[in-house]
Amino acid sequence: MWTGRSVLSMNEADAGEARALLALAHGDAWRGDELDGKVVANLFFEDSTRTRVSFSIAAKALGATVVDLTSKGSSVAKGETLLDTAWTIEAMGVDCMVVRAGQSGAAALIDEHTECAVVNAGDGTHQHPTQALADAMTIGRSFRRELDWDFRGLRVAIVGDVVSSRVARSNVGLLTALGAEVVLVGPPSMVPGSLSSLGCSLSHDLDFTLGGVDVVMMLRIQFERGGGGVLASTREYSARYGMNEGRAGVMKEGGIVMHPGPMNRGVEISAAVADGDRSVVLDQVSNGVLVRKAVLAGAIC
Ligand code: CP
Repeated sequence: MWTGRSVLSMNEADAGEARALLALAHGDAWRGDELDGKVVANLFFEDSTRTRVSFSIAAKALGATVVDLTSKGSSVAKGETLLDTAWTIEAMGVDCMVVRAGQSGAAALIDEHTECAVVNAGDGTHQHPTQALADAMTIGRSFRRELDWDFRGLRVAIVGDVVSSRVARSNVGLLTALGAEVVLVGPPSMVPGSLSSLGCSLSHDLDFTLGGVDVVMMLRIQFERGGGGVLASTREYSARYGMNEGRAGVMKEGGIVMHPGPMNRGVEISAAVADGDRSVVLDQVSNGVLVRKAVLAGAIC
């Protein structure tokens, strides 16, 4: 999970390390000067709202100076490469780079070629480890597992455009390491048989799956990565795989609905469910700040 001080992936996540980090994040017992004198650079080569802002809030809460770089308005727009950009930022004396990029493996590449700590804030369809930590914290708090972060007995359905989703891959790695059972649900084009290699079960029937799970994590169709390309229509997709009030009504008592955001309201999730009693979408956002404080403290301190 951690390569030295960097956080790159939840593949083969270590349950002990993850539980320690979740406990630290949950406690939120920071002085506020842990990162005094440190510089965190947010290098976001893809758009983001919650990840970028929450890393900034987390870093500043611990006393770090934060600098932001996005593709637009930087020399990336003139054709400067990922590594030249990273080396340039490193030469200015940063302690940690938080990297989001469209290329799978981008954060690992920067980690390999620089000395500073690197946190993967989402790379292509590959990994989004801090989103998975925020999601695990949300599940743990929802089901009162904060004492041990042991998720045995919990069943989680991850529903939708799984093949395009770095969030799904990171969540499978982390949630199964913590003991949860994960099923990936969607049409065959979005949940192909090859995904069973991730170590979870697959289903193409949401209605059959719903009654037996504690957590339903809805995913956005990633139109920008070609997701939904073989769908007849988004209306048909919503009818078969969308989370609506009728489906929320057949979930277990106490079951929760998650979404990493941004949501396509009316496509994979109805507004009534997104804003309803089962929804923990905004808890996921709030918990994102807590886990990013712990990740940055671990990466830099
Ligand atoms: N969940 C997530 O990564 O959202 P953003 O793209 O807004 O950061």
